[in-house]
Amino acid sequence: MPQRRKMKAEIIAHGSVPAPDPMTQPSTLLQHLGLQHPIIQAPMTGSDTPQLAASVSQAGGLGSLGCGARSPAAMREAAAAVRAATGKPFAMNLFVLRTPAPDASMVEAALARLAPLYARFDLPLEPPKKWCEDFDAQFDTLLELRPAVASFTFGILSGEQIGRLHRAGCLVQGTATTVEEALAWQNAGADAVVASGIEGGGHRGTFLSRWEESHIGTMALVPACVDALSIPVIAAGGIMDGRGIAAALALGAQAVQMGTAFLACPESAIAPAWRAALANARGSDTRLTRAFSGRWARGIGNTTMRALDPLAAQLPAYPIQNALMGPVRRAAAKAGDADGMALWAGQGVGAARALPAADLVRRLAAELARIKPWPVR
Ligand SMILES: Cc1cc2nc3c(=O)[nH]c(=O)nc-3n(C[C@H](O)[C@H](O)[C@H](O)COP(=O)(O)O)c2cc1C
Repeated sequence: MPQRRKMKAEIIAHGSVPAPDPMTQPSTLLQHLGLQHPIIQAPMTGSDTPQLAASVSQAGGLGSLGCGARSPAAMREAAAAVRAATGKPFAMNLFVLRTPAPDASMVEAALARLAPLYARFDLPLEPPKKWCEDFDAQFDTLLELRPAVASFTFGILSGEQIGRLHRAGCLVQGTATTVEEALAWQNAGADAVVASGIEGGGHRGTFLSRWEESHIGTMALVPACVDALSIPVIAAGGIMDGRGIAAALALGAQAVQMGTAFLACPESAIAPAWRAALANARGSDTRLTRAFSGRWARGIGNTTMRALDPLAAQLPAYPIQNALMGPVRRAAAKAGDADGMALWAGQGVGAARALPAADLVRRLAAELARIKPWPVR
């Protein structure tokens, strides 16, 4: 039986990927997914494209579609576009969210705080028509689309939901920022955990641990998760080249998930001003902020962050602040104004290479091959 079909049968029978045999299986995750390289292009809501995901998968890595802000129709369209370009496996990722019903006076106060920004871009000061996509509808769409990998962040699924994904043939990955969160995903029945270090670009996935306890670097978080879990660990955060991949594998990760490195590829959907900022930034230019979305995330510092971050404790939580800032981000992108945009990037940004995605995967694989052998697990 081909590896992936065999794995699906095993997942359905046992509920998770079987434990690796360190002598004969260098990486169960890779073999099960039929990947050539231990490289996952991170899901990047609003910034990835089907072309990016398909190019990475076709080159032997695993491409991903960040579907947090995609409607069910947009999820179907994006998955179809990847499948039209490649027959290789790919991942789809969702934010585990409940649709909020915020208090009207809280929304009014949050909007009033943003009045100067709205005025700068000549936007009407009014709340959005919806706060976020409906998670249950997105989840049903995922079951219908059956990607090889279904990955999640911002929260955790129930065992029942994971069982439904397994029966649809999906491998389930959960994002963790602490060992406690990684264990929660393993206990719920996930097949792999993305250990997300504080260096990484974009949002922190923290859902269980206190925010102050979740500032753990990739170098410390990955081996701690590897030691605590029996399922595969995927390292994320600050990994930019073959050296970083080799380091993560040496720590016991079975694969890496890279966001900032793939953001610079011409296939990503980022606005020109963001691309220019990426090309000129270094790690010391990045900051953690709640300004753009109400959830802590890492990006290149700008005047909007500096204006709103002193008010961080007053800003509403995701997705309220995110939806309220949506018109500002879109208007700024249109105007080419990097100061109004969320310039998500990780601490490794200075090492980003603006290569076509397939070339980047090949380059990373060649760099890794030069460093081999690393301890297998
Ligand atoms: C622009 C951007 C958008 C992101 N969106 C998502 C997302 O939708 N879902 C998710 O699980 N992670 C998301 N992430 C985090 C990545 O999955 C990954 O953990 C992170 O990029 C790794 O750190 P690095 O940027 O240093 O490679 C995003 C990251 C970036 C840079």
